[in-house]
Amino acid sequence: MGRILFTNRVADELNVHIASVEVPMRFLVVDKNSRQNCLSLLEGVEFLPQNIIEIGVGEGSKSLETVHYVWERLEQGGARRNSVVVNLGGGVVTDLGGFAAACFKRGVRCVNIPTTLLSQVDASVGGKTGVNFMGFKNEIGVFSIPELVIIDNSFLATLPYAEVISGYAEMIKHALLCSYESLDKIMQVDLMQVASPDFLQILRESVAVKERVVDEDPTEKGVRKALNLGHTFGHAFESFAIESGLEWYHGHSVAYGLIGAIEMSVLKCGFNRELADTIINYIRTIYPEYPENPTSEELYSLMLHDKKNDGNGVNFTLMHEPGEFMINSYCSKQEILDVLKIMQR
Ligand code: GLY
Repeated sequence: MGRILFTNRVADELNVHIASVEVPMRFLVVDKNSRQNCLSLLEGVEFLPQNIIEIGVGEGSKSLETVHYVWERLEQGGARRNSVVVNLGGGVVTDLGGFAAACFKRGVRCVNIPTTLLSQVDASVGGKTGVNFMGFKNEIGVFSIPELVIIDNSFLATLPYAEVISGYAEMIKHALLCSYESLDKIMQVDLMQVASPDFLQILRESVAVKERVVDEDPTEKGVRKALNLGHTFGHAFESFAIESGLEWYHGHSVAYGLIGAIEMSVLKCGFNRELADTIINYIRTIYPEYPENPTSEELYSLMLHDKKNDGNGVNFTLMHEPGEFMINSYCSKQEILDVLKIMQR
């Protein structure tokens, strides 16, 4: 799955990796936040100022118009097939920069340097790239594995806590998919110490879970669907928040989605009730309460529009126990409404 490097010397690693590329042939994609807060950690790596491509912050700029702008800048800067596009930022930057790099001249070299926890454990690894289109998230995109991902948790030292727990939800997901032992370990993590060497090790283990799955099924024909654990209910909470203009994070929706998936797994797959309660209580102590009270019918109708569905009904990944998952589990409307009712208690 390309190379993934864990380090706290990001500039040195990047310099070694791109030493072969003449200076004008390096491009850096950033947004305002990563330019202001993260670029200083690349001190010692040369980018011509005209080859620094700044895009807008947030999902609103994850569009074909922004990709067009990045392509223009690559063209004007004389990018060639062997040029390197380095994406420095969160998921929007790595998804969009990765997509722009994958299409330009049918693909130029691409390095991701994720700067948020969510992008370090999920978005920047695995090769899903793309942009939003006509109101649909990640509707246009390609699978394109970056040649290198450099994960340096020094970037996390100044990350707001809400963003830390947003990324952490994907780590809980990876641990659930992996084993009892990983789950136990992840529930003992100190979320106040995310820039520490210990946390870098936890990150490495979490990303390794995704790496194994993606290596087996890079284009999500089968087992990669396991990584959608928590994302079916999660999609409904996230879509409702977007439609209602609520400030709410992707990972917070995933956390609520994991609660839904665990409850459904208790109902349908014999997941242990006591263990389910332990995990659910743990998640509830970390994540803020959902800021609105959507009805179960409203959430269900949002789930019907999830692009993970394939015409056979609402598609879940469920669990027998930690480490034992089941993809393509279709659940009836009544089962989904029952779980939403349990969740509201
Ligand atoms: N975020 C899930 C995946 O990359 O497949």
